[in-house]
Amino acid sequence: MSYYVTTPIYYVNAEPHLGHAYTTIAADILARHMRQRGEDVFFLTGTDEHGEPVAQAAERLGVGPRELADKNSERFRDLVQRINATNDFFIRTSDPEHEAKVQEVVQKIHDNGYVFEGTYEGYYCPRCADFKTDAELVDGNKCAIHLIELEREKEDNWFFQLSAFQEPLEKLYADNPQWVTPESRYNEALSFIKQGLNDISLSRARLRWGVPVPWDESQVIYVWIDALLNYYTALSYARPGEDLTDRYWPARHLIGKDILKFHAVIWPAMLMAAGIEVPKSIFIHGYLLMDEHKMSKSLGNVIDPFEVMDRFGTDTLRYYIFREVRFGNDGSISAAGFEERYNSELANEYGNLASRSLAMIGRYRDGVVPDATPAELDELRGLPGRVSERLDAVDLTGALEEIWEAVRRLNRYVQDEEPWKLAKDEANAQRIDQILYSLAEGLRSVSVLLSAYMPDTADRLLQALGQPDLGLDSAEYGARPGGAQVGDLAPLFPRIETAAA
Ligand code: MSP
Repeated sequence: MSYYVTTPIYYVNAEPHLGHAYTTIAADILARHMRQRGEDVFFLTGTDEHGEPVAQAAERLGVGPRELADKNSERFRDLVQRINATNDFFIRTSDPEHEAKVQEVVQKIHDNGYVFEGTYEGYYCPRCADFKTDAELVDGNKCAIHLIELEREKEDNWFFQLSAFQEPLEKLYADNPQWVTPESRYNEALSFIKQGLNDISLSRARLRWGVPVPWDESQVIYVWIDALLNYYTALSYARPGEDLTDRYWPARHLIGKDILKFHAVIWPAMLMAAGIEVPKSIFIHGYLLMDEHKMSKSLGNVIDPFEVMDRFGTDTLRYYIFREVRFGNDGSISAAGFEERYNSELANEYGNLASRSLAMIGRYRDGVVPDATPAELDELRGLPGRVSERLDAVDLTGALEEIWEAVRRLNRYVQDEEPWKLAKDEANAQRIDQILYSLAEGLRSVSVLLSAYMPDTADRLLQALGQPDLGLDSAEYGARPGGAQVGDLAPLFPRIETAAA
């Protein structure tokens, strides 16, 4: 089965911050997990480079938009590598192949009769690249997101007949209750549709930085139309000489809640207008907050993800943000929270369990995992199935909770059994065998499942256990016999200095 997962493409008007790393890590966790299940995965991320957000930022900096895009796109690419994302392609909307395909699809929408000439009059936020209704303004004529004064615009544009898709969209929602999740976002998008859809501008007359409208080169295609199409165009040129569209389309999108309307309303309508299948699903996550505020460049409260990873490591970041904030909701993160979970959960619970288990296998069984029947540990039984189920529902936090319950169960188990005491008497040899086997198997099972979240850590531990296989079909606790030779393992989460209070 194919599994095509995407992130939003990020604006290159500024440097990346942790909010941007968030969706990419989420998509990577899903991609890695699905590969472990043997799915044929394609994972796409990239940068959104056209339109006013980038053109205006470049102007403020006194550079050309392409120069700014080249520089910042590179930073997003660095981030993707640094967070250890296994994306199969990195799209840039300035790629000539993307631009050509955008023109092809927009021409199709035009030829199918959904484009007309008209005049736009109203407010437009260049930072959002969004046309604002009166209900979306605050303090008279300010953008509710960026709090900047908006000018009333009047432009002759090409329009996309979004209103023609009112009924098809309502039907799409009625037929597919899981199409947009969580449910609250499904309801939000549906009620937006039910309020009645207005036609939208498909082009911009005053802007030069974009893809020319194929039948009217005096205008460029509106940046959101250009950007949304990335999910579709990428498959046509990601592999030279090969078109992957039939193999992977339709996609599963992960997005933040601020761009719901574009993805859950405009995007499927565009695809219907072009005669292309709509996405399989859209999952909407919340915001990472700093001191209760959305982390954003305009509010000046961003965390630099590179700094966090320098300090705590990539795996810790990948773990922490999904453990601390329920994926789908908004939630606060903090340096103190990072330290707390690093020390109490990663170092003490998981790291310690690993090092003491390996040490006991070394000491009591010459480094060879004994063969035995696994101890009855409910939290471990059926764990891969439960984790898969949660991840099928894009419940990244729920899946992690399942895994962590198992880690805690293993810790209680070793604490209750006290093998170091039993080892003093040869008569307990069988029991020791069972304990050590259960610990090795429990650690193997949780680590195979954790590897989607913390790939390097899990890999190191599985190597030390002599069980490097990541396949989910053998991840069940007790699925492997004893006999593996264990190796050395340096501390997985060395103690870090906590910041002075
Ligand atoms: N370029 C558009 C997306 C086009 S997709 C066809 C865009 N870019 S963005 O860089 O501004 O934001 C990209 C994503 O990052 C959004 O989904 C947004 O929600 C997410 N985040 C930005 N800040 C965030 C947080 N503080 N927390 C979580 N995600 C946030 O919009």
